[in-house]
This record gives sequence, C-alpha cells and structure tokens, in this order.
Amino acid sequence: MVAEQKATGARLASSLMPDPELCTEEEVVRLVHAFYSKVRKDPVLAPIFESQVADWELHLAKLVDFWSSALRGTARYKGAPIPKHVALPGLTAELFHRWLALFRETTQALGNAALRQRADDLAHRIAGSLWYGYQARHGAPVGGGQTPEHGATVWHKKDQAMTHPSLTTICQEHRALSAMLRAITLLLGEHRRRNTLPDFDALQAMLFYVDEFPEKLHHPKESRLLFPKLRGRDAHTDAVLDRLDRDHAHGEKAIRELEHALLGFRMMSEAAHGEARRRHFEALMKQYADFYLDHMRVEETEILPLAQAVLSVDEWAELDAAFLTNRDALAGCEADEVYRPLFRKIVSALQNSGSFGLALEAFAGAAIPAFSPPH
Ligand code: HEM
Ligand SMILES: [Fe+2]
Ligand SMILES: [Fe+2]
Repeated sequence: MVAEQKATGARLASSLMPDPELCTEEEVVRLVHAFYSKVRKDPVLAPIFESQVADWELHLAKLVDFWSSALRGTARYKGAPIPKHVALPGLTAELFHRWLALFRETTQALGNAALRQRADDLAHRIAGSLWYGYQARHGAPVGGGQTPEHGATVWHKKDQAMTHPSLTTICQEHRALSAMLRAITLLLGEHRRRNTLPDFDALQAMLFYVDEFPEKLHHPKESRLLFPKLRGRDAHTDAVLDRLDRDHAHGEKAIRELEHALLGFRMMSEAAHGEARRRHFEALMKQYADFYLDHMRVEETEILPLAQAVLSVDEWAELDAAFLTNRDALAGCEADEVYRPLFRKIVSALQNSGSFGLALEAFAGAAIPAFSPPH
C-alpha cells in the first residue's frame, strides 16, 4: 500500500515537472488561444467568462504565461488561481468537467502527444485543486451526486479528500493573505497617484497581520506538519519542498526588513530624502507580495494536489488533528476570533483614510468571511 502510494507520488510528480523541450512557446500560445476561442463559443461557459473578463487580451496573455510556466518552466506567471476561482459565483463540478472536455479537445488537435499528455494531466490536477478550494470556501456538500465520476482520477472520487480540515485551513489562509497583500499594494498605489502620505497606522496594522498570521501560524504548520509527510517520495517533490521551506525561512527575515523600511518611511517622510524612503518601502513591499503570490501558487498547483493524491486516510487523520490542535494551541481559541478585531481595525483605518472603495475592492467581500471557521 505504502509502496504503491509512493509510486503514484513519483509518477504524479514527474509528470508535473515543467520541461522547456516539451513544446515551443508558439505551441503554448496556440493552445491557449484555441482553447479560449472554444470557451467563448460554448453556451454554458461563455457567459461566465464574458461576465468576468473585461480585457480578453490581458486574460489571454496571463493564461499564456500560466501555461508557459506550468509546461515549460518559464516562471512568468505570478498569481494565485485558487482565490480567483473561489471568487467566481456558482461554479460546479459539471462546469469543471465541461472546461476539461474542451481543453482535451484542444490539446488533441495540436498534434504534439507529449504536450497533450502533460497539459491534460496538469489541467486535470489543477482543476481538482481549484474545485477543492472552491468547495472548501463555499461549504458545498462533498461527495454524493455533486461529485462527478470521470475516469481513473483522484480529485473527484467520493472519498474524504475534499473535506480535510487541514487543506481547508491552508486555502482559507492563502485567501486571507492574498487579500491583505493586495490591499497593501492598492493602498500604496493610490497614495502615490494622489501624491499623499498613506495612513501609517493602517499599513503597520496590515504588516503586523501578515507577520502574526501567515508567518507565525500558517507557514510553520506547512513546514512542520504537511511537508514532512510528502518528503522522500521523489527528487522533484523534495526539491520543491526544499524551496518552499527556504521561502518560509526567508519570509521571516523579509518581514523584519519591511517593518524597518516602513518605520524609515514614516519617520523620514518629512525629511529631504523622504521620497527615497517611500520608494524603498514600495520596492520591498512589491518584492514581498510577488514572492508570496508565487509561493502560494506553487503550493496550490503542486503540493496540495499531490497531498490529495497520495496521502492515506490515516495520514490525513493525523494531519487534520495536528492542524486543529496546533491552531488552538497557538491562538488560545478559534484563531478567527482573535484576529477579527485586527481585521476590523485595518478596514476602518482604510475607510478613515478615505480609501473605503479601495478597502472593499481589496477584500472583495472576503475579509470577514475568510475568517469564518472552516467547518
Ligand atoms: C469551471 C471551470 C472554470 C471556469 C468557469 C473558469 C473561469 C475563470 C475566469 C472567469 C477567470 C478570470 C478571473 C478574473 O480575472 O478575475 C479565470 C482565470 C484563470 N483561470 Fe480559470 N476557470 C475554470 C477552470 C480553470 C482551470 C481548470 C484552470 C487551470 C488548469 C484555470 C486557470 C486559470 C488561471 C491561471 C486564471 C488566471 C488567474 C489570475 O488572475 O492569475 N481555470 N478562470
Ligand atoms: Fe507556504
Ligand atoms: Fe501556504
């Protein structure tokens, strides 16, 4: 059983590995454009995309980056797909299957068998991860008639894979962190445009949140509890986990630097070189946001699907128990409750600084729901 799982893990991981030899950049462009032209003609999927995508040129460019990164390892895509899809109203397993069917039709027509296999495999796995995150966030019933049957695949089996509290927690925390990073970026951008100073208390509260919650609570759970269970399966997975662990360690240092840069910006804002301090903080903040979005992308597209695919029922039980205890021990009680006042403070600080619209945009109605208990 264990050997079998390890073999599955190795197979999954190696087929996830990007390879510049797999196809040309042109083939990626052809794939993405052909696929979305099908989507835009599909009576069921088209309305969803047309209502959400304002700028198709931008969307296609982003998706070319995404597939180029996933298939060829060009690392151009910076984003976290789970929060984007979680925000879409009314997704169902059937819609994901329709999406996948069109995707497979497209890859089949390309005439590159290796590309086809790798792309189909990735699409399938990521679709599973997106659908998992979607259900986790929307509290949709799992299993039963809602979950479709489709070949020998892992993500829609009627098993417990969709309901692991530990995965739910990770996805929710990613969503909260993305929202916060986005809010900070928007806030800085707006003040730069208006040529005004930001609300430093709000910024400080936001950085404090990032430090308290993701850095002290989220990453240690991944590094200590989840990652060790996935190690030792194959070299690629181990290398990805090493990188994520390094990211976690680097994150702590980066946040100290950011706090110091913010203090410099605040204290020196009236001084002759105030502008340089602002630029320094903005540059560090952008680096940090890009860094973590990419980090979460790797976790969501590689590690969580792999965990779903290979961990045993017993391992999940152990992990879920540990996640829940860990959460309680660190927070004293439900972490959501502890951080709710801080979140409110940040939102009201943004509102007071005349950035009400901005706060709403950044959190897109997600601020408080992201903190509701996962189950
Ligand atoms: C039911 C199936 C799906 C629907 C209806 C759907 C719909 C959408 C929509 C409307 C957006 C634009 C969101 C925005 O700009 O705010 C989007 C973005 C995206 N989708 Fe999907 N999607 C589906 C499945 C998938 C799958 C299976 C993948 C990957 C294999 C995928 C990859 C992406 C990526 C990478 C983005 C860009 C996210 C970003 O902004 O960084 N989607 N999707
Ligand atoms: Fe992480
Ligand atoms: Fe994470």
